[in-house]
Amino acid sequence: MSGLVVKGLTKTYKNGKRALNGVDLEVGPGLYGLLGPNGAGKSTLMRTLAMLQTPDQGTITLDGVDVLKEPDYLRKRLGYLPQQVGAYPGVTARNLLSRFAWLKGRTNQTERDAEVDSLLERVNLEDAAEQEVATYSGGMMRRFGIALALLGAPRLLIVDEPTAGLDPAERNRFHRVLADVASDNIVLLSTHIVEDIENLCSRLAILADGIIVAEGTPEGLCESLHGSLWTRVVPRGEPLPTALHMKAAPGGTRVVVESSSSPGPDFVPHTPCLEDIYYRALGVEEAKAA
Ligand SMILES: Nc1ncnc2c1ncn2[C@@H]1O[C@H](COP(=O)(O)OP(=O)(O)O)[C@@H](O)[C@H]1O
Ligand SMILES: [Mg+2]
Repeated sequence: MSGLVVKGLTKTYKNGKRALNGVDLEVGPGLYGLLGPNGAGKSTLMRTLAMLQTPDQGTITLDGVDVLKEPDYLRKRLGYLPQQVGAYPGVTARNLLSRFAWLKGRTNQTERDAEVDSLLERVNLEDAAEQEVATYSGGMMRRFGIALALLGAPRLLIVDEPTAGLDPAERNRFHRVLADVASDNIVLLSTHIVEDIENLCSRLAILADGIIVAEGTPEGLCESLHGSLWTRVVPRGEPLPTALHMKAAPGGTRVVVESSSSPGPDFVPHTPCLEDIYYRALGVEEAKAA
């Protein structure tokens, strides 16, 4: 298959922690979301895919090439934005991109300038090109990170939790850049925020404790719970039922309950969304004394 195919990937750290436990994944062109709580193994998976650490077991192929045997094939085609990006004091965005482009082998200045200009435009940083990167806001820094990762036009772009700490406008702008990149590349995005995946990713996997617990399209996954979810606001002071999840609401607590028929007269049908899928896949039923 073309794209990225991962089979039976297992990774155990020296302290005995098994962070990945037989992960299978097929990622084609487009934006693919990897959703999971903190500690699920997202960064481990991404670092392993970026060849920064070796798995105990399993295979990774890109467009049919076994990249554990031929790591250079992947390295030449990979852009990787780690969870933490370093700061570079005293250097403008244009300057820094140009230096990294040179390191990647763009020694012809005209070609290098053209690539840098086009990347700055792509991530909407043309107007801030002469500004020092160290003075960028969180959102600008993330978009700059994408520009860095896109040097050399990678076939596969891996971005690890890029939206943590961004305000809503910055997050939207960042999402638009990612969606644009995904129109002609394979983009794998990890996040612990359900809203990052909704309306953005064409497919997703949910990772929990090193295991893929759900996989599919957002629509398909939501369809699988259609007709089985019910909701109501339980007034403050009333006992709470066992629920898939619950959150504060004006006057009480909104509960979402899974049941083949209505759990009670005050419940109304609830249209499944990714948040429901997430809690269902994690199996963290909130059991409050009924
Ligand atoms: N270098 C390491 N050595 C030992 N344990 C690690 C290391 N890196 C991560 N872990 C552990 O592996 C698990 C998965 O971590 P990580 O891949 O960072 O998850 P996520 O990115 O989903 O938060 C966690 O239990 C974490 O504590
Ligand atoms: Mg992480």
